[in-house]
Amino acid sequence: MSQALTPSDTCVLVTGGAGFIGSHTVVELLTGGYQVVVVDNLSNASAKVEDRIKTIVGSEAAANLTFYIADVNDRNALNKIFDQHHIDRVIHFAGYKAVGESVSKPIEYYSNNIGNTLTLVDVMRNHDCKSIIFSSSATVYGDPESLPLTEVSAKKPATNPYGWTKWMIEEILSDLHAADPEWNVVLLRYFNPIGAHASGLMGEDPKGIPNNLLPYVAQTAIGKREVVHVFGNDYPTPDGTGVRDYIHVVDLATGHAAALQWMNGRTGVEIFNLGTGRGTSVFEIIHAFSEACGHEVPYVIDPRRPGDVAENYADCSKAHELMGWQAQFDISDMCRDAWNWQSHNPNGYEG
Ligand code: WQD
Repeated sequence: MSQALTPSDTCVLVTGGAGFIGSHTVVELLTGGYQVVVVDNLSNASAKVEDRIKTIVGSEAAANLTFYIADVNDRNALNKIFDQHHIDRVIHFAGYKAVGESVSKPIEYYSNNIGNTLTLVDVMRNHDCKSIIFSSSATVYGDPESLPLTEVSAKKPATNPYGWTKWMIEEILSDLHAADPEWNVVLLRYFNPIGAHASGLMGEDPKGIPNNLLPYVAQTAIGKREVVHVFGNDYPTPDGTGVRDYIHVVDLATGHAAALQWMNGRTGVEIFNLGTGRGTSVFEIIHAFSEACGHEVPYVIDPRRPGDVAENYADCSKAHELMGWQAQFDISDMCRDAWNWQSHNPNGYEG
């Protein structure tokens, strides 16, 4: 049974804590009084994030942050971290996450995402730490048979290696609990995280050409990209473009803090959808972002992107009923904060 702890008595290891969702979650945890240890190899994150986190939370809370630049697959580095810190909970974000890239680099995706998870849980077990929150994804639902998606909606075969790693890691963690009931596993299935911290000091900063819609729209809005490519307007949706459940990254962060509280003193495996329960189309995103930035964001219609589903959005009533969590921000908030980040950081963390 994982011991019930207060935030100030709880040390949380956040893998991938310098990343987009990880960094916003670290801010939330430090603000909530937790001790936080970050491990990140910076393969898809900037070293500048540590200082931005400390600036946002202030010196008192920043004193509870320890930051390690290391690879989760590096067993020696992980052992040292667990030897130096009494880790009570782990939030596991670290992993490659580009759908398209995963199709061309399956070996890298399977060895990194699944390999680092197996190393992590083995080191956790060896240090008698069996409480983990995993960063999963709505992608495990595949092409939905019905909407909204609930936690008992069928898991479907993935359409790319990235999706398979999320799918498989959920199974691995469930099997851990089946073999040893002391494991305390929470699987958080994110829908589409977008937006940025209201301070404008942290936000989404993808390397190279953005795969995801929002950063591509934001970079077009500042003139870094010429035009948004809308991947298909012939889907069976209200305006023909793809519909997704976009959730503010800060709402996602508070969802992790709520999960940490909820899992206190429990064991088992629990799944939660983290979304808003509302679907928004590509055209609606482009319109909302044009409102936020004060000028029209140009776009062209391209053919559909292989592997895309027409529509998905969440039923998040379970997270509300069990954890008392609910998304607070709407699409205009998400676009406002994303534009604030992008306009103040035209080249992301690199200035
Ligand atoms: C959203 C909509 C596209 C780009 C994936 C993963 C998910 C999570 C988020 C990592 C779709 C359309 C997109 C563009 C477009 N993983 N689009 N032009 O594919 O729903 O989810 O990323 O963080 O696990 O599955 O997100 O932002 O790529 O696409 O028209 O340049 O925007 O067709 O309808 P997706 P997305």
